[in-house]
Amino acid sequence: MLNVNALTVTMQRNPSKRILDNITFDVKDGEILAILGPSGAGKTTLLRCLALLHQQTLGTITFNETPIDTLAAGQIGIVFQSFNLFPHLTVIENMLLAPTCHKKGATEALLDKAQALLAQFGLTAHAGAHPHNLSGGQKQRVAIARALMMDPPVLLFDEPTSALDPELINEVSEIIKALRQPKRVILVVTHEVRLARHVADHILFLDNGVLLDNVSRDVFFGESGDGLSPRAQTFLSNLS
Ligand SMILES: Nc1ncnc2c1ncn2[C@@H]1O[C@H](COP(=O)(O)OP(=O)(O)OP(=O)(O)O)[C@@H](O)[C@H]1O
Ligand SMILES: [Mg+2]
Repeated sequence: MLNVNALTVTMQRNPSKRILDNITFDVKDGEILAILGPSGAGKTTLLRCLALLHQQTLGTITFNETPIDTLAAGQIGIVFQSFNLFPHLTVIENMLLAPTCHKKGATEALLDKAQALLAQFGLTAHAGAHPHNLSGGQKQRVAIARALMMDPPVLLFDEPTSALDPELINEVSEIIKALRQPKRVILVVTHEVRLARHVADHILFLDNGVLLDNVSRDVFFGESGDGLSPRAQTFLSNLS
């Protein structure tokens, strides 16, 4: 289980301004959580805290009761909005870099694993390509395959559909759903309500650094809006 307790992030230049304000929630093993909210709500900041990319934080984040900053390398995987593939490396080199650095297995075994993942994502023909020769959807699948090389039990996505053709939303949804595993937690920050509705068990709704709603998907997308904050109800009604 992933546990976030009283997480607070303040602005470096103005410590009285809270980017995240006392955020507490859990994600159980095997669950997929979507994080929704308007622009500037703090969604990416929350994900960056979970990926240990943000320093000035208060509160605690644990995975299976271990503070995340003491977890072994590779336990937390992140797929960035802009994919962040290394442009000078080929697809397979991108995939092998982290597991090789962290000695996650013998070279042969890692190569076999990378090839199996490339096949799974329909990328075998692109193993030797550089990222600039790939489409957006292909880059994203490489970024996901790269994250999976480390078998992360915590997998984070920041806006996985925003850089893609809207027609790919269903494909991305299916990919994310297929990554669900009994011992894994998956968090997806998204603007795309269809994606959240399709993949998530639970929804967090953030506004202005504050966690306003932490509810099941069925409650969040219920017809009546019962059990939702007025802000989330407005957010949803503005979409329709
Ligand atoms: N490094 C930083 N320095 C100062 N302010 C920051 C920094 N990073 C984020 N912020 C501020 O924190 C707030 C939350 O930003 P964040 O990027 O987490 O929002 P978001 O919910 O991901 O928004 P979007 O939907 O537009 O991606 C914003 O007001 C932003 O301006
Ligand atoms: Mg963001």
